[in-house]
Amino acid sequence: MNQPLQDASIALAEKAQDSINNERLQNAIAALAAFGGRDDGGVARETLTQIDLDARRHLIDTARALGCEVETDDCANLFFRRPGTTDLPPVLTGSHADTQPVGGKLDGAYGVLAGLEVIAALNDAGIATRRAIEVVAWTNEEGSRFGPGAMGSSAFVDPSRLPAYREVRDGDNITFGEAVDAALLASADVTRRPLALPIASCVELHIEQGPVLERAHAALGVVTGIQSVRWYKVECTGMAAHAGTTPMDERSDAMMAAVAIAQQLYVYVAKEAASNLRLTLGRWQVGPNSVNTIPGKVDFTIDVRCVDAEVLERFELYLTKITSGYQWRGSISFECFFSRPPTHFPADMLSLIERACVRAGHLAKRGDPQRLTSGAFHDAMYLAEHCPTAMIFVPSKGGISHNAAEETAPEDLYLGVQALAYTVVELANR
Ligand code: GLV
Ligand code: MN
Ligand code: MN
Repeated sequence: MNQPLQDASIALAEKAQDSINNERLQNAIAALAAFGGRDDGGVARETLTQIDLDARRHLIDTARALGCEVETDDCANLFFRRPGTTDLPPVLTGSHADTQPVGGKLDGAYGVLAGLEVIAALNDAGIATRRAIEVVAWTNEEGSRFGPGAMGSSAFVDPSRLPAYREVRDGDNITFGEAVDAALLASADVTRRPLALPIASCVELHIEQGPVLERAHAALGVVTGIQSVRWYKVECTGMAAHAGTTPMDERSDAMMAAVAIAQQLYVYVAKEAASNLRLTLGRWQVGPNSVNTIPGKVDFTIDVRCVDAEVLERFELYLTKITSGYQWRGSISFECFFSRPPTHFPADMLSLIERACVRAGHLAKRGDPQRLTSGAFHDAMYLAEHCPTAMIFVPSKGGISHNAAEETAPEDLYLGVQALAYTVVELANR
């Protein structure tokens, strides 16, 4: 871009940043949080439940009121499009609107509403962009109802993933495919479009969900990448038997085996403390789950994360060793059902985001942004396979997320959207 054009583009980015309306943003967050809102301040809006479908309808109506064209695809991702002055591929922003079984108001929702606020601000300021700006609400980022997570964005990037996803069942035996079809039926008025359409670039704004920014007293974070993650399901199969009559040394107790494996994993992770390996055994299913029957079947999930993929490779070797070496009358097996290497966002996207954050931070007298790696995974992890992608973070109070107490100061939420507006408008005029 030549200098006068570049100056004009920066001036528009600055004008967009200065047009963000904090009151409208906070109202939008409160309005979406009412869908699945809980008395403790949390939100229960797992993907493609009726509550999620109602929330999606609310987003469709909100976007249409802003003049957006609304489209969906075979994975029920929702796209809210503000046309550009050309037909060039759009700039994408947004996040996800689903939550954990008990989540907060901000994880995902913030990124979607921030994108809609950018569009509202551009409308207010009368700013036209060369490229269209699309705000997306990806389906099933959380992965709590149907695993793995980030199904919508990964199927968008590689549609060959979708058929296997459609077969995944939730705890009530409903398939993801059935849930997607019901969502598409509920939004029959929304135009269907193909997956994997070209995108010029993508920026996702999200709460940090960890303690780094708060501890650094930074209002904004430039996310350099996302750490590696693997999910496993471990199945311990023994024999159900009477709790009172079966001698201890004659049992085939699946819980005893599962607890022994779990204990060894915790010890292993403590020894790997220097590599910052993180372990979560989050979901347990016990059969028959009765006080006075020895468990015949125990399944549990493992979530491991690390910035260094080799550490996860070593973890898997250790898991193989202890599950195959455990001596008892039953059997133990495991399968990996989600695996992602670390993501690294491109340097030119980071420097643009840095510029946007520096301006927002300095105008608010909040200083420079901090660079950090994301501990959580995000849809941006998959979009990075498809187009130049990056993320902006705002701090999370106490680093708490996936919890009703998840919170970010309103002034930090505002700065995040200001940084997003600058970044998106700059990209949309390239
Ligand atoms: C996303 O919710 C994650 O678990 O990182
Ligand atoms: Mn999220
Ligand atoms: Mn989440």
